[in-house]
Amino acid sequence: MKQDWEEVYPMLKHWVFFDAANQMIPGRYWLNAMKECISIYESNPYYHADHPFLTTSFQECIKRAAKLIHAEKEEVTNIYRVMTASNLIINDLLKWEKGDNVVFTDLDYPSIPYILMDLAKRKGVELHRVKNVNNIIQTNDMEKAVDDKTRLVVLNDTMAWSGFKYDTRAISDIAHQHGAYVLNDAIQSVGAIDVDVKKDDVDFLVTGSYKWQCGPEGAGIFYIKKELIEKFDPTFRNYLWSSLPNGIPFSHPDQDNLESWDYPLLPNATRFDMGACVTPILFGWNETLKFYEKIGIENVERSVRSLGSYCIDRLNEIGCRVLTPEDPKMRHGLIIYTTGSYETDKMTQASFNAEWSGEKPIKLCHRGIGGVIGLRVCCHFFNSKADVDYLIEAQKKILKKQ
Ligand SMILES: Cc1ncc(COP(=O)(O)O)c(C=O)c1O
Repeated sequence: MKQDWEEVYPMLKHWVFFDAANQMIPGRYWLNAMKECISIYESNPYYHADHPFLTTSFQECIKRAAKLIHAEKEEVTNIYRVMTASNLIINDLLKWEKGDNVVFTDLDYPSIPYILMDLAKRKGVELHRVKNVNNIIQTNDMEKAVDDKTRLVVLNDTMAWSGFKYDTRAISDIAHQHGAYVLNDAIQSVGAIDVDVKKDDVDFLVTGSYKWQCGPEGAGIFYIKKELIEKFDPTFRNYLWSSLPNGIPFSHPDQDNLESWDYPLLPNATRFDMGACVTPILFGWNETLKFYEKIGIENVERSVRSLGSYCIDRLNEIGCRVLTPEDPKMRHGLIIYTTGSYETDKMTQASFNAEWSGEKPIKLCHRGIGGVIGLRVCCHFFNSKADVDYLIEAQKKILKKQ
């Protein structure tokens, strides 16, 4: 994938950037699209502001987003933030009974466990939290945690703070054998690797576009399996997706705000749309998805995986300990490592992020959860071996000073 990435991501002129799992730097494609949207507002005095979810841009985004995860258009809508989509699924769509349980892990990013903690207190739902063993969630531990009272299995497709990647299909199969639903938080996978909801057989998938997907804040994919769409009737009611036989009746002479609207929600994923989308963001998201179609997710995955392997080799070579599983089936390019000392790791992050020897700072994070703690290097398609070498030289200098 040869291209001048500094032209596409101008911040790369100033940083060696390894932080896509946190928040991606802006891409020209979406910045320009947003500017274009603003200039339409500015230049057209007769501009009629249509709601963004009624624009062609919304429909285009949904079509492209569905294609990215191998879903059908009817199965996808836009919900930004994992917490928003997960609250909808857990607190609105699923009906819990005392004694039901939910399976998740000690490596999961806190946004879903925070909802689950409250669910346990309110509804008496049991929390089956699977513990990692050496930074890995073992499939047989998940299997032991799931039983016939399990209503939901929560996955972080790739763990944000350990880099472990599930065999998602294996977990879905276990969940389904017990009649449980699978909620896949794939924010650390989509955009890095080719995520296929059909192969993985998950019931729900949620993401945001601003990490590995290299898009703007404010958009995200919400996927629900086709067979489940009409099984769930959300109490969050979005009148605009009511299945109105003659369209929106705003100008009908006899519009009645009850009778004219008394139709069920549409039988597709838009019935779960929570009404939060903004036109410039949609323009930006659409261009991001087009950009991905151009570069090809399979090419992205190849680069991400191969640079991840290179990064692991180089870190091992200088005596750092890689905490992410080395087996390529259990990770992609999200690599966590430690120098072996918490203080040195913290110091490394601080000096990487600061101006370093008058050269480019290195942007990465220091993160820990469930006993796994270290420095996170996100090897994305725009990174090169030279970037990894640069990080290695910087790390070597810090280690020498210790
Ligand atoms: C796995 C995972 N899920 C969710 C989020 C963010 O979720 P939310 O939109 O709920 O803040 C992150 C952010 O780093 C994450 O890594």
